[in-house]
Amino acid sequence: MKRILVTGGAGFIGSNFVRYVATNQSEIHITVLDKLTYAGNQANLPVSNKVELVVGDICDADLVERLVQKSDAVIHFAAESHNDHSLTNPAPFVQTNIVGTYTLIEACRKFDVRYHHVSTDEVYGDLALEDSQKFTPETPYNPSSPYAATKASSDLLVKAWVRSFGLRATISNCSNNYGPYQHIEKFIPRQITNILNGQRPKLYGDGKNVRDWIHVEDHSRAVWLILTNGQIGDTYLIGAEGEADNKTVLATILTLMQQSPEAYEPVADRPGHDLRYAIDATKLKEELGWQPQFTDFRSGLESTIEWYRKNRKWWEKEKIAVEKLYTQRKQ
Ligand code: NAD
Ligand code: TYD
Repeated sequence: MKRILVTGGAGFIGSNFVRYVATNQSEIHITVLDKLTYAGNQANLPVSNKVELVVGDICDADLVERLVQKSDAVIHFAAESHNDHSLTNPAPFVQTNIVGTYTLIEACRKFDVRYHHVSTDEVYGDLALEDSQKFTPETPYNPSSPYAATKASSDLLVKAWVRSFGLRATISNCSNNYGPYQHIEKFIPRQITNILNGQRPKLYGDGKNVRDWIHVEDHSRAVWLILTNGQIGDTYLIGAEGEADNKTVLATILTLMQQSPEAYEPVADRPGHDLRYAIDATKLKEELGWQPQFTDFRSGLESTIEWYRKNRKWWEKEKIAVEKLYTQRKQ
């Protein structure tokens, strides 16, 4: 592989993946296709003569064809990614997540280009709180939110393109990511930046909902392994056995930031709020030898807090607007 196209490479996970490849595979040329929505930021990208940003829309078929044609592989991260926004305005989710994926896989089919599809465990719906069951690649799709439904739709398009057209594709469904460069609308960075600003963190509902946390660097390594060694047509689940309920995560952040673990504000719950996600990553571990390196969630959180403390300029300007939106939703 000499040239890869990374969609959504100016967002949280995409930019961490670009940094991972630029660092570990420095001979590869990386073209990032990103619309620079509110979630994309050019400053997230490493400065390198091997990394090129094209500002554009994945739904623009002419542009996509031009870029795909000169690439050896496409790694598709671009998406509308925030559940809460999908509940107030689902339209951009349908457009970017479904039509955008369709546009990319059509171009990959036309030019026979290897395609990796980055998806989420939220396509499976949720699990009961008091249960030991986990998601596996065989779990039936049962998405709850418009975000999850559009991601599920895009996965199904990819599966159909593999079977009907021989698209050389793999799919990964990952659990909740945390780490540097995550937009401050998401749970962990929202609470860290609230505390750094002297505001109380906000917990939805009773805080018992469980998420399965993975450090974004572990996700990047897994995507690279699947791209280079994964079985065409297969789905790999990515997770690091990081289950924790929201109240516990928040209490850990508060404690690490020298606050009382109870110093938060309970706010309105999310409609249709998924109870629990949990990933069984056995296939990824046994077939491709992947293991998470960030196995201590507390120290992963500590370094993430440090990143937001040191990079106030990166998030400060947006904070007021982000919180204003949440206030309108009583969250
Ligand atoms: P993000 O919102 O931080 O970044 C999305 C990026 O896509 C932004 O740079 C944005 O500008 C770009 N984008 C949006 N619409 C576009 C369009 N029409 N054309 C081109 N670019 C566009 O998202 P993220 O958290 O980095 O998630 C990346 C991917 O990983 C998504 O596909 C998401 O579903 C998936 N995922 C996320 C998580 C998580 O915990 N955040 C977990 C599993 C899977
Ligand atoms: P989020 O980061 O939006 O990710 P996802 O919806 O993909 O799981 O939210 C993670 C969890 O944190 C989810 O259960 C909702 C909850 N949450 C809060 O309690 N308070 C908040 O301010 C936010 C943004 C989320």
